[in-house]
Amino acid sequence: MARVFVTGGAGYIGSHVVKLLGERGHEVLVYDNLSTGSRKAVLSGKLVEGDILDYKTLKDAMENFRPDMVMHFAAKIIVPESVKKPLLYYENNTCGAINILKAMRQCGVKKFIFSSTAAVYGEPDKMPITEDYPLNPVNPYGRSKAAVEAVLRDLSAAEDFRYVSLRYFNVAGADPEGQIGETKPDATHLITVCVRTACGKRDKLYIYGSDYPTRDGTCIRDYIHVMDLAQAHILALDYLLSGGESDTFNCGYGRGYSVKEVVDEAKKVTGVNFPVEYAPRRAGDPPELVADSKKIRGRLDWKPRYDDLGFIIKTAWEWERKRV
Ligand code: UFG
Repeated sequence: MARVFVTGGAGYIGSHVVKLLGERGHEVLVYDNLSTGSRKAVLSGKLVEGDILDYKTLKDAMENFRPDMVMHFAAKIIVPESVKKPLLYYENNTCGAINILKAMRQCGVKKFIFSSTAAVYGEPDKMPITEDYPLNPVNPYGRSKAAVEAVLRDLSAAEDFRYVSLRYFNVAGADPEGQIGETKPDATHLITVCVRTACGKRDKLYIYGSDYPTRDGTCIRDYIHVMDLAQAHILALDYLLSGGESDTFNCGYGRGYSVKEVVDEAKKVTGVNFPVEYAPRRAGDPPELVADSKKIRGRLDWKPRYDDLGFIIKTAWEWERKRV
């Protein structure tokens, strides 16, 4: 049993991890400003409402809880927004993470799990992407996360500090038991937009760009079920607690679907022929991102259970229809 301080634990991905932590008997404290997350989504442990940029509240919460480890999910994650508002992204994602690391040092906490992203790779010319591929992010979101990875490497080399950085590919779907899922009203992620359009909560879906150098001209992504990603965090926790060295792992299944393929599958799963329109490319979108996931499968013994696009969409669809 470990004591885990979870920033952003009331949000989409954080809440799924908190659910698993609770089921495994870990003690959880969620630290979240509730800007996109919700109190209802916290199924285990206590919630302290606070912002990661508010150093005093953050440090006090950590000091009182005395965690063995910090998992950090609180971040801004929308690529096009980051292109328009870079400072917001560097402040929240880069300065926010540094605040947490400083608070950890003051409180003597030496283990950290970081939510990184496939966006740190930019536009690689080789697929699938291995972890040692040079980082060259093409948008402020990716750069705000790559900067934190650099800080983590330096800190781990300088001090008694160990981290795991998980580079998420396209996270989607919802808790198969139906307790939690995406709730952000302005969510922009493709599968969420598909199921919301199928529900009639949105008028139509736009496909951004059909002139990419891919098999059907639309962007290719590696969609991973949120519960498989949550399980990767549990394995990373066990790894660090058993003395594992600092390391970085891709979190994806290793195969890509185009936007068009996802939309077609969503129409099939939902049974709704929702309206779709082609629109120009969206700023900051790389044509293709597919993970090489051998490292996490081998070193952490990660065995995904939900590697099935239809199932990912089905859980998102069931959640979307059920929630008010
Ligand atoms: N897309 C559409 N229409 C929509 C929404 C998305 O065509 O309404 C397209 C996008 O242009 C893109 C693809 O669907 O080509 C996926 O877009 P998402 O917004 O779902 O996700 P992103 O790939 O932009 O970004 C997500 C996360 C990042 C992560 C990245 C890794 O937000 O944190 O996946 O692949 F880095």
